[in-house]
Amino acid sequence: MKKIAILVGARPNFMKAAPIIRALRSRRFQLRPFLIHSGQHYDRAMSQVFFSELGLPKPDRHLGVGSGSQAEQTAGVMTALEPVLRELKPALLMVVGDVNSTMAGALTAAKLHLPVAHVEAGLRSFNREMPEEINRVVTDSVSDLLFTTEKSAEKNLRAEGVPPGRIHFVGNVMIDTLLALRGKARKISHYRKLGLQPGGYALVTLHRPSNVDAVPELREILRALVEVSKSLPVVFPVHPRTRKNLEAFGLWKKSAKGPGLILTEPLGYLQFLSLMDRARMVLTDSGGIQEETTVLGVPCLTMRNETERPVTVEVGTNIMVGSDPGRIVREAGKILRGGGKKGRIPAKWDGKAAIRIVEILSKVDWRS
Ligand code: UD1
Repeated sequence: MKKIAILVGARPNFMKAAPIIRALRSRRFQLRPFLIHSGQHYDRAMSQVFFSELGLPKPDRHLGVGSGSQAEQTAGVMTALEPVLRELKPALLMVVGDVNSTMAGALTAAKLHLPVAHVEAGLRSFNREMPEEINRVVTDSVSDLLFTTEKSAEKNLRAEGVPPGRIHFVGNVMIDTLLALRGKARKISHYRKLGLQPGGYALVTLHRPSNVDAVPELREILRALVEVSKSLPVVFPVHPRTRKNLEAFGLWKKSAKGPGLILTEPLGYLQFLSLMDRARMVLTDSGGIQEETTVLGVPCLTMRNETERPVTVEVGTNIMVGSDPGRIVREAGKILRGGGKKGRIPAKWDGKAAIRIVEILSKVDWRS
């Protein structure tokens, strides 16, 4: 059986890797997954909780890299991963998404002359100030198999000179997980535990460095959220990076005081999905949540100026609103009055992406 090494590191990787590992374990493919966790995310709420909820196996190796500057984290993953790959000699390294661990893994494997597969390839925000954009471009440039979620990705890769035979439009593995666990999340009804009604609250996530690492941006976005919370309760599970900054900038106590603003610890997958599924609207700067809200049919306001996931705007429920507080409040008001943008589900976001990926892997001629 061929060994397929899969590297995960940060929260948004786990829900993407889970269905792939499940599919790889199916006997008919003669492939065996070997799971490596870089340790980029290490808090229980950012990592372990997802392993149990998503049915992920305990990692075969944990690299324990942890936090650091962009360079420290990237170098840390590369240094720790290299001997593992040398010893394991997998048929291929699979990386998912666009976090620092993704790029570090792809570079390490490519330099060992191991084939690299990138799941969620080709997405481009065309904003190189986002660390993720550098990660995407570098990862794709050294990948041998590029699995895409939407048509724009193929266009971007072709424009960068990637041979068409390497690109496979397979759909969205994160949506595989969402569709598999939506029923279970509905039973949890996490909003009730917060004293909220279905459709009776907004849900917020915020963690992009461009929104939370400087005082003016963070203060202004917070002001907008407090304003929205005067019309509708706002649930805000706070990412560790955001919490640290709110505290360091002296904004934590102030934000906790907004009357309708409910700050919580980061939530597990099922609790968060339960909240997202029944929210009146979602305000976010995340990548994946733009896609999840499109599938759930929940209006999404993305607090960024561009998206690497244009299908969520063209076909789905997503609207880009930037970080201007006036615009955020106006667009939230429109959703409250009019119900928000209606969307459709993008092509191949049907719960079968992981199977498509593994079917393609099973047909690779490993000798060539
Ligand atoms: C990372 C990804 C981002 C993804 C996000 C999801 C990169 C460049 N960024 O951003 O694409 O959307 O994960 O969460 O890879 N921290 C903790 N505990 C943890 C993890 C982080 O306290 O378990 C704190 C640390 O202070 C750390 C900071 O959060 O320095 C940022 O963590 P890091 O992994 O560098 O980036 P994220 O902002 O989480």
